[in-house]
Amino acid sequence: MLNFKNKDLCIEQVKLSDIAREYGTSTYIYSKKQFINNFENYKKVLGAKDIVCFACKANSNRTILKLLADIGAGADTTSGGEIYRCLKVNFNPSKIVYAGVGKTSEEIEYALKNKILMFNVESLEELDAIDKIAGRVKIKAKIAFRINPHVDPDTHSYIATGKKGTKFGIPYEDAVMAYLIAKKKKNVVVFGIHSHIGSQILDIGLFKIAAKKIKKIVDDLEKNGIGLEYINCGGGLGIEYTKDQKAPSPEQLISELFLVFGKDKKFIFEPGRSIAANAGYLLAKVIYRKLSDKKNFLITDAGMNDLMRPTLYGAYHEIIPIKKINAKKVKTDVVGPICESGDFIGRDRMLPVLAQGEYVLITCAGAYGAAMSSEYNSRPLLAEVLVDGRKTALIRKRAKWEDLLLNEE
Ligand code: LLP
Repeated sequence: MLNFKNKDLCIEQVKLSDIAREYGTSTYIYSKKQFINNFENYKKVLGAKDIVCFACKANSNRTILKLLADIGAGADTTSGGEIYRCLKVNFNPSKIVYAGVGKTSEEIEYALKNKILMFNVESLEELDAIDKIAGRVKIKAKIAFRINPHVDPDTHSYIATGKKGTKFGIPYEDAVMAYLIAKKKKNVVVFGIHSHIGSQILDIGLFKIAAKKIKKIVDDLEKNGIGLEYINCGGGLGIEYTKDQKAPSPEQLISELFLVFGKDKKFIFEPGRSIAANAGYLLAKVIYRKLSDKKNFLITDAGMNDLMRPTLYGAYHEIIPIKKINAKKVKTDVVGPICESGDFIGRDRMLPVLAQGEYVLITCAGAYGAAMSSEYNSRPLLAEVLVDGRKTALIRKRAKWEDLLLNEE
């Protein structure tokens, strides 16, 4: 939804310079239209029986969650807090799934009492805990096992989850045994199967290899008299952070997976990044420039506490000035004010020489941007703004210094 109006970069129909003036910087900005388009890209190829559960860890701002709930999304959650947020904005509980290797008793009880669709169970000890709590509160727990298919998703190791040796899921060789155990539990209903092999995956072939392994388990379970209602294919579809990356569309992914499973089952997809990433931006101001040992630095008011991805994963986010200018381009490191050399937004970027007080836009920051931000260096959390056509709305107030001390003695 980025476009130039004369020399001004805009999101939908709003100039970024106007947003900077009205809301200050640094600020997360989202395009409502882009969120809706991205969600519809999944929905249009799925049937009414299938559910697109937005992975709300990618962006859990209340207004964003409400926007998605209102257009029919379900939610993939990973903590009691996420379930709480989702219920607060009226997600239909029967469209909420809950994964995570460390669900506490309190979280399990909360999820049961609120009648979520399904637990994606990650270990046999967790199965025992769910069975016990379900018995105590007298609510049957519907479960899927999260199966680890041992497929390397060819992504950053921190976000590769379906590989051998990671903490996630039940190893696929043990899957049938796990279901046979679950079948005997009094307070558990075997309901589905789940697999999520990782994030920012650009090769559909890898999803297919995992799907074939899951399909084999589904067939083996049927032979053992265990029928499943839902196949949850997880999330993980990558997006184009750079111009030379090519991301498959949700349609391409889903049609390939339908070839593996057939269309008749009920499907769940759990996209996070492919719904939120390119719908969000981080707007930052140049505070100072400096030349240090022949290196040009732009020091902005956005730091690694605001956007962790470059520091944590070496992730690339495009950085663009918000005014079209013809100044000569120089190799530049765009950094934040935090006291670590790892505090950078982009390194060795060819950027036009900018003046103090000018702005840059960091793209594809809508997923795992604000959601992963922190107050490190006692920097209050940022404002978040939603653009809808010509309108803007503040959907999270910029925190103040006083807020830093809110819960401290
Ligand atoms: N389902 C499960 C069970 C997950 O663990 C995740 C993400 C998703 C779905 C959504 O995956 P997506 O469609 O967004 O790839 N902070 C990292 C990404 C962590 C992903 C964690 N799990 C980053 O900034 O790249």
